[in-house]
Amino acid sequence: MTGARVPRVGAREKVTGAARYGADHTPDGLAYAMPVVATAGKGRITRLDTEAAAAVPGVLLILSHLDDLGIGPAGYIMAEGYAFQSLQPLLDDHIAYRGQPIALVVADTLVAATQAAGLVRARYDREPFAVVPGAAGTETVLQEEAIPLPFLADIVTGDADGAFADSPVRVDEIYQSGPQHQVPMELIGGVVEWDGDSLLVHEGTQAVGALRGGLARQLGIDPERIRVVSPYVGGGFGQKNSLQPHLAPLAVAARRIGRPVKLVLPRAHTFHAASFRPVARHRVRLGADRSGRLLAAIHEVDQQASRFDLLPATYTEITSRLYDIPNFRGRQRHVKTDTQTPGYMRAPFEHSAAFAMESAVDELCYATGRDPVEFRLANDAAADPVTGKPFSSRHLAECLRRGAELFGWAERTPDPRSMTGDDGALIGWGVAAGAYPSLTVPTLARLRADSGGRIVAEVGGHEMGQGLTTALTCAIAGDLGIDPEAVTVAVGDTALAPHHLTAGAWGTNSTLRAVHAALRELRERLGTAQEGPVDLAAAVTATGREQVEAEAVTQGPGQPPEMIERMRAGLVALAGPEFPDCVSFSFIAHFAEVRIEPGTRRIRVPRVVSVADCGRVASPVTAEAQVRGAVVWGVGAALREHSEVDPRYGGFVNADLADYVIPVNADIGRIDVAFVDEPDFVLNPMGVKNLGEVALVGVAAAIANAVHHATGRRVRRLPILIEDVL
Ligand code: MOS
Repeated sequence: MTGARVPRVGAREKVTGAARYGADHTPDGLAYAMPVVATAGKGRITRLDTEAAAAVPGVLLILSHLDDLGIGPAGYIMAEGYAFQSLQPLLDDHIAYRGQPIALVVADTLVAATQAAGLVRARYDREPFAVVPGAAGTETVLQEEAIPLPFLADIVTGDADGAFADSPVRVDEIYQSGPQHQVPMELIGGVVEWDGDSLLVHEGTQAVGALRGGLARQLGIDPERIRVVSPYVGGGFGQKNSLQPHLAPLAVAARRIGRPVKLVLPRAHTFHAASFRPVARHRVRLGADRSGRLLAAIHEVDQQASRFDLLPATYTEITSRLYDIPNFRGRQRHVKTDTQTPGYMRAPFEHSAAFAMESAVDELCYATGRDPVEFRLANDAAADPVTGKPFSSRHLAECLRRGAELFGWAERTPDPRSMTGDDGALIGWGVAAGAYPSLTVPTLARLRADSGGRIVAEVGGHEMGQGLTTALTCAIAGDLGIDPEAVTVAVGDTALAPHHLTAGAWGTNSTLRAVHAALRELRERLGTAQEGPVDLAAAVTATGREQVEAEAVTQGPGQPPEMIERMRAGLVALAGPEFPDCVSFSFIAHFAEVRIEPGTRRIRVPRVVSVADCGRVASPVTAEAQVRGAVVWGVGAALREHSEVDPRYGGFVNADLADYVIPVNADIGRIDVAFVDEPDFVLNPMGVKNLGEVALVGVAAAIANAVHHATGRRVRRLPILIEDVL
C-alpha cells in the first residue's frame, strides 16, 4: 500500500488541539525559566547585576557564569558533537554575538521569570564585531583547506576556466541570498524533570538521540539515564536538528531547585538561540555555444560562518550535475562573522545554489535565444558529468515536460514585458529545476503484532509534519494487506529505539528500509509467506503467543558498520551512502506565474506547478502537502523573508513574526503538484528516494525568472522587493 491515499496520521489530533507537543507537558510542581540575553555585539561581561531580579517574588534561582554550572560544552554537531554550535553560553564572561544568553532566571510562574529576566543588568567591555560577510574584520577561509574531508573538496571536471574563456556566449554574475531564519510555528523549548538520577526531557526536536547524547556529555551522566520524548514537532526545518544550549542549564536548574522546569523561548530569542540560513554569495560563470549547448560552469560560493564553527557546504554538489556540463569548477569558502553558528535550513545549500544557477541559466537562455524549457531539455545529462557514473534514476526531463504541459507553457511569449493581464498587470512565467542528493542513515525498526490483528511499529525517526508516520503506516498496511487503522507507528522517543537525527530528507527512505527488513523478520517468525496478505490475528494466534515481535537495524549502501554505533550514540552518521555503480539524486521542476500589480508593483504568485521525481511516492497525501508547503516556502524565500542584521549593534533586528515577513494565505494562489512516481531501488526495496528538501530547490529561481519575464528586470538578490521592480 506504499502509494495509497491514506489520510495523514495525527491530522485529527492536530486540528482539534489534542496533540501534545513537547512544551505542552506540565508535570506537578513545574517552575518556569526565562533567559537573559547579551545586548553587546561582542566582548566581555564586566558586571552582572542580579539583585533586583532576585528580589522579584517567586524567583527561585538565577544561573549565570558567576556560578559554576558544572557542565561543559556538548560539541558541534558536525565535529563529533551534539549541538548546533560548539559555544555553550553561561560558562564564562565572553560574549561572541548579540543575543547570546548571559543568565537564566527560574521562578514559580512565567510572569515572575519574565519580569525578573527584564531586571538583570549587565555591563560590557565591548569589542568591534562584524555581522555581515564583507564587513571589516571578517575572515575568509577555503573549505577544502579548513575542513579536509573528501566529499567537501572542490568539484573540478575538465578545464572550466579555459572552456569559459573560449565560450562564444557567457554569463558572469553574482547572486546572493540569506540570512533567513526557519521560524517554525512551534517555539524552541522543553520541559526537564529529574527522578532521582534519571532525567526526562520533553522537547520538540528532530534529534532525540543527539539531545540525549549531548546532555549526557554535558552533565557527565550515563545516556541510559536520560530519556528524551518528542512525539509531535511543530515544524523543524533544520532549526531543531541538534541540541540547543538552553537544555543543559535547564537540567542544572531543575536539579538545584528539585522541581521540573519548563522553558519556552520567546520568538525574539529564537533568532539568536538556534541556527539560521547563512548569507551565501555566488559568483556563477556559464559558457555556452551559440545554439545554447552548455560548455563550462564556474561556481564560487562564499558562505557566512560563525567565528567558532564551519558548516560544511555542498552547494556545488547539485550545480555540477543539474546539466551535462563537461567543464566545471566549484570553489566554496567560509566567511567568519560574529553571530551564532549558522546551520541547516530546508535545502540548506541547494535552495540558494539553485537560485544562483537557475537564474544564470535563464540569463543564458535569453543570451542564446532559446526557450528555457527547451534549453534545459537540450542540456539534460544522460550520465553524471562529475563521476561518469549513471544516475540511479533521473526523470528531470519528464518533470520539465509534464510541468510544461500542466502549466500551459506553450502559450508563453518569450519577450520580457510581452504578457499582460486585463487590469494592466505585468505577467511573467518562469521555470527552474532542482536536485537533491539521496542521503540515508542507519535506522532501527521494531514491530509488534498481536493476536487482535494489530501491529505497533517503534521506529528511530521523528515526525515533524513531513508525513513519516503516514508513509510507514501505508507501507506496513500495504505489505501485510491489513487496514491502516490497525497500524500504530511510534517515533521520537529514546525509550523506544535509538534515533539518528531526522533531516536531509532521509527520514522516510531510511525508516522504510528498516521497516521493510523488520516485516521480513516478522513474517519469518509468523511462519507466513514473505509476500502477500497476512491474516495477522490468525497468524499470531497460531504461534500460541499473544504477541510476536521482530526487529531490524539497517543502513544504507556503502555505510560502514560503525555508523550504527554512531546512530546509537546520537552522533551524526553521514558516511555514505555510496553506490558502487551510480550516483543518486531526486529532481524537480517548478513553473511559476507572477503578476506585478500595475499601481503598487506588488508581486503576486497566482499559480505554481511543481513536478517531482522522488522515486516511488510513499504517501501521496503527505507528499503533495510537503511539496505545497515547500512552494509556500519558496514564495517566502523569493519575495518576503530576510533576517535584517544591525551592523551597529549586532544581531538580527526583525526578530518576530510581525517583522520577519512570511507569506500569508492571501499571498498563495493555486499550487499544482505532480509526481513522476517511478520506483528507484537504490535506497530501499520500496523504491522511494527523497522529497522533503528537493521540493524547495528551484522555487525561488522560477519566481525570479518569472519576475524577469514580467518586467525585464533581473534581480540577483533574494528577497525580490517592490523597489526592485519599480
Ligand atoms: Mo533539514 S535543513 O536537513 O533538518
